Amino acid sequence: MTNSPKRVLSGIQPTGDSFQLGNYLGAVKNWVSMQDENDAFYCVVDLHSLTVDSDPKLLRKRTLTSIAQLLALGLDPNRCTLFVQSHVAAHNQLGWIMECMTGFGEASRMTQFKDKSSKNGADRTVVGLFTYPMLMAADILLYQSDYVPVGEDQRQHVELTRDLAGRFNSKYGMTFIVPEPYIMKEGAKIYDLADPTSKMSKSSSSPAGVIELLDAPEVNAKKIKSAVTDTGREVIFDEKNKAGISNLLTIHSALSGKTISELENEFSGKGYGDFKGAVAEVVVEYFRPVRDTVQELLADTTYLNSVLKLGADKAAAVADKTIAATYEALGLIARG
Ligand code: TYM
Repeated sequence: MTNSPKRVLSGIQPTGDSFQLGNYLGAVKNWVSMQDENDAFYCVVDLHSLTVDSDPKLLRKRTLTSIAQLLALGLDPNRCTLFVQSHVAAHNQLGWIMECMTGFGEASRMTQFKDKSSKNGADRTVVGLFTYPMLMAADILLYQSDYVPVGEDQRQHVELTRDLAGRFNSKYGMTFIVPEPYIMKEGAKIYDLADPTSKMSKSSSSPAGVIELLDAPEVNAKKIKSAVTDTGREVIFDEKNKAGISNLLTIHSALSGKTISELENEFSGKGYGDFKGAVAEVVVEYFRPVRDTVQELLADTTYLNSVLKLGADKAAAVADKTIAATYEALGLIARG
């Protein structure tokens, strides 16, 4: 058995002015803790974000703000490879090959595609939304990743990636590591504060239930204090009957490091008002320094550009090797 570090890859879309709390608790928090013991690659998937209508100026700003947030949340460009997806052309190259490996029916069964396309209707749904999971498979397989740290909503896409890797390997010879989803139980699905049966999401129809990490502390405190809860009084974890309180307990626990049962004891005999006030304080204080650091980083474009150059060079070196091996396996002749 070798002790060589495991390869990790994950990505996040630059689709909002700020990451939301679910992005952090479901994914980025694990990215930070995985960067020391593993050979970790993290990317801002700007090409994926083109599947929703985008404005060039906003996309530029949001991509840089995403990188700044990842740094402020604890990623260290010397301990992981942090890059922008479009800087490494191999993502598109392998994306096409993955599209040629995927069945139409198989792609049609992806629940995120079904949800999004049924909301917008066929004529307003772009083909890129349909092929989105194949580009995601390319992101993962290019880096020969062992683990993919994501929230629960991405599990099906990672399962498809596993199928595609296995299919390619059995047809053309061993080319890709078959990756595993890395989904922590805590934080894998953070719910909307105003509708605790739906997941918190940047594309939610109402901003009331979504905590944006870069929003003003007062705004986030107010959203938490107005979170929808049941009519009871007891602060106990019961996802079925107390979805709102259970979600707030999960959030508090993930950020404060206290266990759910410690929190249940601490708030026993106190009302929901006290508990929500405590959750608001934990969230606001946790992200206050992050917000300040993001502003400082965004003012230092020379530094941000140097991080992106370093990341793109390190990523391309690995990805280009995989593309060469893939082309060779497929029988595409070398350029000479
Ligand atoms: P995206 O940008 O929607 O979300 C980034 C990460 O945040 C997680 N997440 C959540 N986790 C828990 N609770 C929530 N409410 C919540 N909302 C979001 C997501 O699961 C994700 O891990 N398709 C991906 C981006 C992607 C990718 C990849 C991921 C592209 N290529 C390769 C991994 C590997 C997406 O849209 O994530």
